Amino acid sequence: MNASFPQPNLATLVLDFDSTFTQVEALDVLAELLSASDPARQADVAHIKTLTDQAMSGDIGFAEALQRRIQILKPTREDIAALVEVLRGRVSASVARNRAVFAENPGKFRIISGGFHEFIDPVVADLGIEAEYVLANRLIFDADGVATGVDQTNPLSQDGGKVAAVRDLGLSGDIVMIGDGWTDYEVYKGGAATRFYAFTENVSRPKVVATADGASVQVAATLDEVLHAEGYEGRYSFPRSKLKVLLLENVHPDAVRAFREEGYDVTLQKGALSEEALIEAIAGVHILGIRSKTNVTAKVLEHADKLLAVGAFCIGTNQIDLKGCSQKGIAVFNAPYSNTRSVVEMVMGLTVILTRSIYDKSVSMHQGKWDKSATGAHEVRGKTLGIVGYGAIGSQLSVLAEAFGMRVIYYDLAEKLTLGNARRYRSLDALLAEADVISLHVDGRPENKNLIGAAQFARMKDGVLFINLSRGHVVEIDALSNALKSGKVYGAAIDVFPEEPRTNDEPFVSSLKGLKNLILTPHIGGSTEEAQESIGQFASERLLNFLNRGDTTFSVNMPHVQLSEVQGRHRFLHLHQNVPGVMAAINQIMARYDLNVLGQHLKTNETLGYVIVDVDRGYPKEALEELKAVNGTLKFRSLM
Ligand SMILES: NC(=O)c1ccc[n+]([C@@H]2O[C@H](COP(=O)([O-])OP(=O)(O)OC[C@H]3O[C@@H](n4cnc5c(N)ncnc54)[C@H](O)[C@@H]3O)[C@@H](O)[C@H]2O)c1
Repeated sequence: MNASFPQPNLATLVLDFDSTFTQVEALDVLAELLSASDPARQADVAHIKTLTDQAMSGDIGFAEALQRRIQILKPTREDIAALVEVLRGRVSASVARNRAVFAENPGKFRIISGGFHEFIDPVVADLGIEAEYVLANRLIFDADGVATGVDQTNPLSQDGGKVAAVRDLGLSGDIVMIGDGWTDYEVYKGGAATRFYAFTENVSRPKVVATADGASVQVAATLDEVLHAEGYEGRYSFPRSKLKVLLLENVHPDAVRAFREEGYDVTLQKGALSEEALIEAIAGVHILGIRSKTNVTAKVLEHADKLLAVGAFCIGTNQIDLKGCSQKGIAVFNAPYSNTRSVVEMVMGLTVILTRSIYDKSVSMHQGKWDKSATGAHEVRGKTLGIVGYGAIGSQLSVLAEAFGMRVIYYDLAEKLTLGNARRYRSLDALLAEADVISLHVDGRPENKNLIGAAQFARMKDGVLFINLSRGHVVEIDALSNALKSGKVYGAAIDVFPEEPRTNDEPFVSSLKGLKNLILTPHIGGSTEEAQESIGQFASERLLNFLNRGDTTFSVNMPHVQLSEVQGRHRFLHLHQNVPGVMAAINQIMARYDLNVLGQHLKTNETLGYVIVDVDRGYPKEALEELKAVNGTLKFRSLM
């Protein structure tokens, strides 16, 4: 049942080099390099670009444009070597990610260009395509190593040269031309190619795109699409450009870039979407990226016909109907640790500011009062920091505080790995009685409501400093207010409140306003540009690993399976309700079709079962249909 490779009967694919194999026009890049080293040649750059564009759009003859460009540029061998280095970094994303396909199908790919072997051969060789499969011109150099002309005997230096060059190959079987330019289309029009793909990954030329007729001439946004349509087995089961990613609420540009670089079809929306608007937008979307202001409700999920995963580009996932997602087999990811460092740094800063009464001194200065005194101002060194909740934030704070010379004690309900010289306390009361500074970092579970009230403040040392950057409901506000007024608490910094304004337009209402040595901040503990960047990177990586490999590490609702890349094999991802018999049914189908299993994982949680099977390629497609039809199946995908 297993196929041997390379596959038989595949069309030969002829790829244009400039703006198709690479993202750029090589001669334009050469002109830029030359003008960068000699500003006097600035005008040459513009001239070269105009000639390139006119030739690509079919407005002037190719031969004329080529001769004129070389005569203007007059590059040396060193200039060509510099050009090669630039081009190596500008290979088209979909070409680069399909290098395995080139390697597996030697001789099935040809590179064609009116450009020159001197810079094309080394670039395509990096991707495993030998120079013998490159159709291109050769430069003529003078005795000083300066290119002065083009080999006129090469058909590619003439108008219509690409048609002649492809025809002269005398290949049997189908020939498929892929390119962005008019001369590429001419290869098909002139009868030398069976099909043509107008390639738009890097540049979309209206005149070329308009040639698409839906049958032999099509538009392809990536090489993945062409390989898929031409039946090439490769790394990707499905052209990524056909998978829709909808990113809302201005998610970080790093995330947008990551999806685009991997070839997915990305749509951006600056703001949040209302339920109604999201219901309309969600149809056909495979990946949805949101932040905290878009609600993914049960109603939205009803219309999510293609949705594979939701990425919360933030910390919390309260805005998402997690149960509904699980029932439909939709994976949910977030970025729980991306702002940890930001919170920790703020706590350290606040600790110093409170210990020195810097905030009150600054307020006095603004009122015209000069109050220079050391009374009540202390170093943090040697003071005891009591951390309540030793999770991601609490434990990092422990490390930074020790670096400041503080003595760290902590209390956590769960068993934790103690870092540095910190000491674990078995009771909250003992910690409260001993700390000079108390910082709360517990999670938001309902039992933590009013964890710190009048009784707890009473147990603290007189003149303690108190910091809460965890959750608003954890501290009883009136008790804190009284403790500050009585001097029991000398200073406090509060970033989170039981009730917080929902927008910047709503007023902040609290009995804490106006109290001395109390720093109030609007829930900004984790709000830094670095945290935003880190959230963008973390969440997009989780989503991409899920899409590309099936990896569910850190998912909020899926059984966690860490998976390697899919290379040289196919991977089935089968997500089902966690009910008896599914695994047996899957194994029966695989045995019946004699699939060669290379690796298998099964992970379950309370509601879901996730089976991952790596198999050798070359199996009947009916096997996939049967796997999809297994009772209890929620989602089935295959990757390659
Ligand atoms: N101010 C902000 O902008 C901001 C930013 C990020 C996180 N946070 C909040 O900070 C808190 C901590 O975040 P994290 O990432 O460290 O969470 P985490 O889940 O990693 O850690 C929480 C820890 O608290 C412990 N815990 C829970 N209840 C406890 C209790 N009653 N007594 C002792 N220990 C208890 C848990 O066992 C856990 O170890 C969360 O509430 C989070 O929402 C606030």
